[in-house]
Amino acid sequence: MNLRIKSLDAILATAEKKSLKRSLGAFQLTMLGIGGIIGTGIFVLTAEAAQVAGPGMLVSFVIAAVVCGLAALCYAELAAMVPVAGSAYTYSYATFGEVLAWVVGWALVLEYAVAGAAVAVGWSGYAVGVLEHLVGIHIPPEFANGPYAGGIINLPAVIIVGLVTWLLVVGTKESATVNAVLVVVKVSALVAFIALSVPAIQSEKFIPFAPLGVNGMIGAAAIIFFAFVGFDAVSTAAEETINPQRNVPIGLIGSLVICTIFYLLVGAGAIGSYGAQPLLDAAGVGYIPGSKEMADACSAATDSPLVCSNEALAHVLRSIGHPAVGNMLGLAAGFALPSVVLMMLFAQTRVFFVMSRDGLLPTKLSTVHPKYGTPHVVTIMTGVAVMIAAAFFPVGQLASVSNGGTLCAFFFVALAVMTLRRTDPNRKRVFSTPAVWIVGPLAAAGCLMLFAFLTLTAQLVFFGWGAIGLVFYFFYGRSRSNVARGIMEVAEIDAPVSPIERVLKP
Ligand code: ALA
Repeated sequence: MNLRIKSLDAILATAEKKSLKRSLGAFQLTMLGIGGIIGTGIFVLTAEAAQVAGPGMLVSFVIAAVVCGLAALCYAELAAMVPVAGSAYTYSYATFGEVLAWVVGWALVLEYAVAGAAVAVGWSGYAVGVLEHLVGIHIPPEFANGPYAGGIINLPAVIIVGLVTWLLVVGTKESATVNAVLVVVKVSALVAFIALSVPAIQSEKFIPFAPLGVNGMIGAAAIIFFAFVGFDAVSTAAEETINPQRNVPIGLIGSLVICTIFYLLVGAGAIGSYGAQPLLDAAGVGYIPGSKEMADACSAATDSPLVCSNEALAHVLRSIGHPAVGNMLGLAAGFALPSVVLMMLFAQTRVFFVMSRDGLLPTKLSTVHPKYGTPHVVTIMTGVAVMIAAAFFPVGQLASVSNGGTLCAFFFVALAVMTLRRTDPNRKRVFSTPAVWIVGPLAAAGCLMLFAFLTLTAQLVFFGWGAIGLVFYFFYGRSRSNVARGIMEVAEIDAPVSPIERVLKP
């Protein structure tokens, strides 16, 4: 059978053309990682995780971090070896051939575009809170929530996606300096939260620790996994790293470990100072976060529980006697989260771009704007789709759907690393996954486990999306693909694989 495998040499020939100067060290890489990782996950989804696991969400953070760490080590080998746009999609093309590459590319749409929507909705919760508490402007709930919570449309989320889309069309990339400043802003907000909430911990708030059992804790891990995604920024910078063999794993694992420590302290602070018990129905079953029933239960609750808050961390600080710092934290989230939306949409447009240049999507999509040099058609299309998702769906559901796509991509990345070790053992590996025959299978198994614990809706969306993708592939891409027509040239545009402009060209 002709799998239509794309030659790795052809891919690498393109990558070599744009060789970048190696100047990033372990510290800068770690900063890049932290910049990509900290976002809506910790600032907002803490409330959703608490609804699914209660205080046991601390265990969920650890489970999600371990799966991400294993996947990150696999990702790094491929990213360092095949440093071109399209990441997991491109690796799969070179390893498994066109059909699976298509499946992975299609899953990456869920990962990036839907994540962009999730972060925008998360940002909206904070923006509404800041406007209310700091400026005194009240956004009516009908215009701050989708129909899932009795609203009409989440207008702030739509506006921020629109703004980010415009920035991407005119060619904005985040500079390394802006990234560093935003990392400091985000980390300072979390440090302030920890400093005020941890001393207020009361041990009885941790009891019962796991009101919804082990299933609840793994279920929350499948949601909070979202909080760790974004370290790809580190793997995609491998090419620009001094001594990548040493520094890439330090950057990857370092940023994941630092974020995990922060997340555990933030989680412990939120639980112990304020409480994080889930809302249960009469039968003792937890309401599903983002559902109408959950919204009703929250309206009926008199003690404004953590699990009902759209701005979890700010809410805790305001409630334990630090309203001013709570507002400042909200402001910090308001500043920093849009850059995560930007990263996600940027990555999405580049995946679409590469797929379209490969002939699998209409070539019109890869039209580059004559003045700005950006793939504006695909950027605007992505932006509009993300606006619609952000307008009408709850953050937890969007994050879970995005996680489905990410887990699929990570799963194939783990398989690809192992496969290429067998099929192409002599190729130069700038970074090699340590203990690949242990790390690879564990990463793949971890992804499957978390996928199995995603909500049914997220799983159905994943498979439904996959089915639509396959129909599209067999009716459209299969006959038009460049590889099918013997064209091996690899698509690249004059853009780095990460939205962070590292200004490192020699
Ligand atoms: N990890 C990123 C966030 O939590 C995607 O927003």
